[in-house]
Amino acid sequence: MKILLLGSGGREHALAWKLKQSPKLKELIIAPGNAGTAELGTNMDVDPNDFEAVKKIALDQQINMLVVGPEEPLVRGIKDFFLNDAKLAHIPVIGPGKRGARLEGSKEFSKDFMQRYGIPTAKYTSVTIETIDQGIAFLEEMKAPYVLKADGLAAGKGVLILDDLQQAKTELKSMLEGKFGEASKKVVIEEFLDGIELSVFVLTDGSAYVVLPEAKDYKRIGEGDTGLNTGGMGAVSPVPFADAAFMKKVHRKIIQPTIGGLYSDEIPYKGFIFIGIIKVDNKPYVIEYNVRLGDPETEVIMPRIKTDMVDLLVAAASKELRKCSIEFNDDTVTTVMMVSGGYPEKYQNGKEITGLDKVSDGMAFHAGTKLQNGKVLTHGGRVIAMSSWGKNINEALAKSYKNAEAVNYEGKYYRKDIGLDL
Ligand code: AMP
Ligand code: GLY
Repeated sequence: MKILLLGSGGREHALAWKLKQSPKLKELIIAPGNAGTAELGTNMDVDPNDFEAVKKIALDQQINMLVVGPEEPLVRGIKDFFLNDAKLAHIPVIGPGKRGARLEGSKEFSKDFMQRYGIPTAKYTSVTIETIDQGIAFLEEMKAPYVLKADGLAAGKGVLILDDLQQAKTELKSMLEGKFGEASKKVVIEEFLDGIELSVFVLTDGSAYVVLPEAKDYKRIGEGDTGLNTGGMGAVSPVPFADAAFMKKVHRKIIQPTIGGLYSDEIPYKGFIFIGIIKVDNKPYVIEYNVRLGDPETEVIMPRIKTDMVDLLVAAASKELRKCSIEFNDDTVTTVMMVSGGYPEKYQNGKEITGLDKVSDGMAFHAGTKLQNGKVLTHGGRVIAMSSWGKNINEALAKSYKNAEAVNYEGKYYRKDIGLDL
């Protein structure tokens, strides 16, 4: 197999690391990749949203499979682009087409989908500037806090949670007037759910599926989950509060109707689904769907999977997942995200990273790095996801933190409380 993997984050480095363990993998190309993926395959400096450039690699390199890491190329229709091109149509793509990608690309679509298939989720309404009065009335019926979500992709910034009704009305208007560009010309207003969150991952071929290990992600920049939202500051898998009884409910009330709904809607789907779930009074509710793997969740779930990942992806692509099962090891895996000073606001790139050779008993998954003249430089807000495994959270965390101390660059920051709430 010759696989082309699109993306450049910790998620892609962890996925590349897992794919590389398969004897079936002959060659791996990562576009654009980072300094970490460069050690596992060939990086090619191409933007995953530039479909013509991706096509050129696919044809020049005669790839056997395209694996799409981030959501944007999927929402923009890279799968349809491959299917509709006579020279590319035979190449399997891991990731949904444009219609399936609406589960992430449109909050309104995903809420309507959940409502139609009886999948538990927060009460909601969806409005535009023309129907803003309906939105105001809905807000007035609700209790604080108020949840406003831009319908479209807004680089993770499109969700506002507000305590004050007046402020919620003002923000609703400003969103509908384009606060997040086209993405917020439509807004989903939701009931606030008070509970504890986890991330659940499914690989499906459109009818059968396997469930990957679940994970808990730490989203805020500051310790004690305070401060600004980030892409994710750390993660843990397994999640102790997601016990067998709870996961059974997740299967029955969420995963099965989701896959069944896609099938009934005649939406072909070969790829990952990341379901953001919140546990309220021991019941699972869907917060959101994503049409990809999570980051930094991938950095803790890949080390727990024993099954060959190339086998699973080939089975998903050829609609043979019903013949597969997935096995996990007994490890607890933690990851601590090392970020650039200033992130998630302004930060500087290009700081030299030292000490990577001192990392032991774990993996430094590169999230935002770049190789230049033989040096590894910071190249993003999130820089390195320090993953480790052990018999329990404490054992794994001690290794993640020891390795995080050993690696240095100007402005290094990481949270010291990952997993402690568990
Ligand atoms: P989303 O982009 O939909 O995942 O929302 C971002 C974050 O906002 C989620 O991870 C939750 O922490 C929070 N959130 C979203 N919707 C709700 C809700 N209905 N109730 C409580 N928190 C929410
Ligand atoms: N860690 C959350 C995400 O990947 O969206």
